[in-house]
Amino acid sequence: MNIIDGKLIAEQIKTEIATEVRKMIDNDINPPHLAAILVGEDGASQTYVASKEKSCKEVGFTSSIYRYPASTSEADLLKAVDFLNEDEEVDGFIVQLPLPKHISVDKIIERINPKKDVDGFHPINAGRMLAGLPSYLPATPFGIMQLIERCNIETEGKNCVVLGRSNIVGTPISILMSRNSKHANATVTICHSKTQNLKEITQKADILIAAIGKPNFVTSDMVKEGAVIIDVGIHRTPSADTKSGFKLCGDVDFLNVSKKASYITPVPGGVGLMTIVALLQNTLKAAKKEIYQ
Ligand code: GUN
Repeated sequence: MNIIDGKLIAEQIKTEIATEVRKMIDNDINPPHLAAILVGEDGASQTYVASKEKSCKEVGFTSSIYRYPASTSEADLLKAVDFLNEDEEVDGFIVQLPLPKHISVDKIIERINPKKDVDGFHPINAGRMLAGLPSYLPATPFGIMQLIERCNIETEGKNCVVLGRSNIVGTPISILMSRNSKHANATVTICHSKTQNLKEITQKADILIAAIGKPNFVTSDMVKEGAVIIDVGIHRTPSADTKSGFKLCGDVDFLNVSKKASYITPVPGGVGLMTIVALLQNTLKAAKKEIYQ
C-alpha cells in the first residue's frame, strides 16, 4: 500500500509557483493577487481562508481578505463582488462557501467576472470545462487530478466510482476523470443518496473517490483489493486519543481500507492541501492571463 503524500506534492507545486513568482518580480511584474470574501463566522471557512492567506505568503502572492458579518444583505454582497470585479489590482477572488441562508449562492457566483473566478464555479467556467475548453478548474478536482498524475496512477479504461454529486467536487471530478486526455480516460460512475446497491458498485471500483461528507463512510468491505482510494472528506470527530479531544478523519475508514488499497490519500495530509495549491495555480494563471485575455 502506498500513501499518497499530498503534503509533499503540494510543497513541490508551491516551490514551482514560488519560482515563477520570483521571475515575475525580477521582471517588474506585480505578483499574483488573490482575494477572498468571507461572510459570517463559520469555523471551517475561517480555517480555510486563513490557510489560503498563509499559502499565498509562502509563494509570494499578495492576498487580501474581505470580512462581512453574517447579517450582510445579498445586495451588499453583490456590491462587494462588483468591487473586486472592478479592482485592477486583484487577479482572482473567491467567495467562501457556505453563505448565510438569506443569500443566494447562485446569484453571487453568477455575478463574479468569469475571468477572476479562480474557484471555477461560474457557469461560464463550468460550461467551458464541460466543453473541454480552457477554463479555471474547481480547486479540489484539479488538485485530485494532479495527485493522480504526479503519482503516475493508471486511469485509462479503469472503473472510477465517485461518491457524491456536488457542484464543487463530485460532478466536476467525474467529468475530468472521463475526459479524453492523459491521466483520465476512465469509465466513471457517480453514486449519490438515491443509488441502489452501492456496495456492489464500489466493489468494482479500480479508483474510488469519496466526496460524500460522512465520516468513515467507506468501509473495507466496500473496496476491491488493490483499489486506489481518494478521500475528499474532512471531519472533526471526538477522540479520547488526543489532547484536544478531537481528531480529523475523512469519508473513508482509513485504518481498515488502507490494508486493501494500492494507493490511498490520508486525512489530513491528502486532498485538502492540494485544494489550496490548485487555487494558487488558478490565480497564477489569472495573473498571466493564460485562460482569458
Ligand atoms: N467551501 C468549501 N470548499 C470551498 C471551495 O473550494 N471554495 C469556496 N469558495 N468555498 C468553499
